[in-house]
Amino acid sequence: MSFSELINKRQSVRKYLPRPVEKEKILKIVEAVHLAPSACNSQPWKIVIVDEPDLKSEVAKATFSKSVSFNKFIQEAPVIAVLVIEKARLITRIGGTIKNQEYPQYDIGIAAEHFSLQATDLGLGTCIVGWFDEKKIQQLLNIPAKRKIGLLITLGYSPEDYKLRKKIRKPIDQIYSFNSYS
Ligand SMILES: Cc1cc2nc3c(=O)[nH]c(=O)nc-3n(C[C@H](O)[C@H](O)[C@H](O)COP(=O)(O)O)c2cc1C
Repeated sequence: MSFSELINKRQSVRKYLPRPVEKEKILKIVEAVHLAPSACNSQPWKIVIVDEPDLKSEVAKATFSKSVSFNKFIQEAPVIAVLVIEKARLITRIGGTIKNQEYPQYDIGIAAEHFSLQATDLGLGTCIVGWFDEKKIQQLLNIPAKRKIGLLITLGYSPEDYKLRKKIRKPIDQIYSFNSYS
């Protein structure tokens, strides 16, 4: 698959088969995250891979409620990866304070995309998830309260008939300009 094909094929997958994900594939995805760039090469991330069914079910339950139910599909995913934001290197923290930037937040986003693209290349579906009960998941997975959870990513095989959707995006001329902001 070419890079263009890969980024077109990656989409948020919200339907999963109960089929388990092979450990080698999970480790290959971890390798892709390992290669992601980060501010000052801080690599401020840890991935907790949740595939134990009862625990996974509890983590899934922490992503939706009666009133906010759009993440209910997460219960179907055989794997949920939890991306924890680790403390960045001192130089990154100093730079972030001076420049008023939260570099680790960007880093975790890039890591999530590496995760998602590698998974797509391996024939797996993912959905990046930013809506969850952080405290609940910290407790379930023994994540210290001082460690922020950046994102969750669901991982699994989607049904054969799960279609590649047309990407819904702003008109492309609204997202760039040459030489001056407009
Ligand atoms: C930071 C972030 C948080 C997201 N949170 C959720 C979420 O909680 N639930 C969900 O179903 N999708 C979530 N998404 C997926 C987006 O809705 C999706 O990427 C976007 O609509 C574009 O669709 P596509 O991924 O299929 O191209 C999130 C994506 C990102 C990058």
